[in-house]
Amino acid sequence: MGLEIVNTKDGSKSVFSKVFDASYHSWYGAVTESKYVFIENGLLYRHMQGADQIKILEVGYGTGLDAILSGIYALENDLEVIYSGIDKYEFPRELMDELNYAGFFDAKYQDFIKNINNVQYDTAIKLHEKFTLIKSLCSLKDVSLRQSYDVIFFDAFSPRQVPYMWTLEVFKKMYEALNPGGVLVTFCAQGQFRRDLKEAGFEVEALPGAPGKREMTRGSKKFE
Ligand SMILES: C[S@@+](CC[C@H](N)C(=O)[O-])C[C@H]1O[C@@H](n2cnc3c(N)ncnc32)[C@H](O)[C@@H]1O
Repeated sequence: MGLEIVNTKDGSKSVFSKVFDASYHSWYGAVTESKYVFIENGLLYRHMQGADQIKILEVGYGTGLDAILSGIYALENDLEVIYSGIDKYEFPRELMDELNYAGFFDAKYQDFIKNINNVQYDTAIKLHEKFTLIKSLCSLKDVSLRQSYDVIFFDAFSPRQVPYMWTLEVFKKMYEALNPGGVLVTFCAQGQFRRDLKEAGFEVEALPGAPGKREMTRGSKKFE
């Protein structure tokens, strides 16, 4: 699949895809970026609004790093998280071992992270009283979203690399899939993307970006 393990500046590893000519995370720090964009500005933000159970949809599951960070957040904050991740391509299990995220975080999470890595596709697994994970091999274009989510992690490659994942039609579908008060967060700050998000119904916020990036985006669906 043309994937190569790379080091990033915070000491965590990431992957470079030769097919998409893109890296999965920022060179300034894979964990730093994912924690900032998805956990702090998505999961934590929604949690602070008073939810005691949060359903997350991740578009572009990849290495599973965002699921790992969400699982750790759920355990540390006694919050029930139900996590659905979709990806068109299967990420090779042996590369998960090479990335060694289990070795990057506190040793007490090692088994939990290994269990996340071992989850099979299309089966909802309760890995902890507070964390359920289901991952599916499915293209964004074909996915039918049956449940409503509180947070969407939109972690596709950039609009330049995969324009078909950043269309108005896609963001209308994302809006429909969110519960009132729900948010979509992404590293992307592109103008056309933000206009489409707005047209799809979202309230759009430009937030400071993770290290190395000027801005990121959060779209919110108003409480009714
Ligand atoms: C930026 S990477 C995701 C990084 C991932 N969240 C992580 O932490 O490892 C983008 C992901 O989008 C996936 N992808 C590419 N085309 C897709 C499609 N049409 N539908 C769903 N996922 C797709 C890629 O396989 C890749 O895993």
